[in-house]
Amino acid sequence: MRLVILPNSDDVAEFACDLFVRQLKDKPKSILGLATGSSPTSTYKKLIGRQAAGEVSFADATSFNLDEYVGLSGDHTQSYRYFMNENLFDHIDIDKQNTFVPNGDAANPNDECDRYEELISLMGGIDLQLLGIGINGHIGFNEPLSSLSSRTRVKTLTKSTIEANSRFFGEGERQPTDSMTMGIGTILDAKQVVMLATGSHKSEAVRGCVEGPVTASCPASALQMHEHAIVVVDEDAAADLSMKDYAIWAETRHQALEQL
Ligand code: F6R
Repeated sequence: MRLVILPNSDDVAEFACDLFVRQLKDKPKSILGLATGSSPTSTYKKLIGRQAAGEVSFADATSFNLDEYVGLSGDHTQSYRYFMNENLFDHIDIDKQNTFVPNGDAANPNDECDRYEELISLMGGIDLQLLGIGINGHIGFNEPLSSLSSRTRVKTLTKSTIEANSRFFGEGERQPTDSMTMGIGTILDAKQVVMLATGSHKSEAVRGCVEGPVTASCPASALQMHEHAIVVVDEDAAADLSMKDYAIWAETRHQALEQL
């Protein structure tokens, strides 16, 4: 696992943006795995800027989002399809036909999950997967106790996740309690994974992910098993790491060795 500790959240976003730009330059037909929530929004803003400046194009890319709420259609303002259109797709040159998010109002959510999982593999698998991390260590909506080899499926949210995400819902607005999410096995199949975490409220989850045992109690710890996982955090999110000094030094060496 490559652990990158940067001074602040803007540096984290810049790092992730550079990674996606490089991916698309190397392989314009990349299959991108995308996330919603607070963690990726600055990265998306930067990608929109880079595309407007002509530095990168999404014209030949395809995207798969991690998850969606069961029961919300794509035009619902709290759906993740809506979030993606608003925060990225409406502002870049990607063909919307090539952007996939599980269909939240599918008649049969279980069938929809199977279809989604199949589609990812039919397209050849994800090249670069972007992730955030929940304060309880979830990735996608794989809550603690999720199987580490799970595939896309319906997952009931924990109280802590419902509470953490209630900030996005208006007063009296119905908040879904179930999701469709890529599984941990689906995420681990991506060729490269980059997880972003900023802020002190994420520090405990980050420690579990990076230094804890690989356990279903902290789904993000499964990334320790991935050959090409990069965890990018700011100083606040890194505060609980005991190997922080080593990680900073190792990253300096990594960059120096890359120049050879
Ligand atoms: C979002 C997702 C979630 C979030 C996580 C962190 O598609 O899959 O795992 O990444 O809940 O959310 P934020 O970034 O809002 O703190």
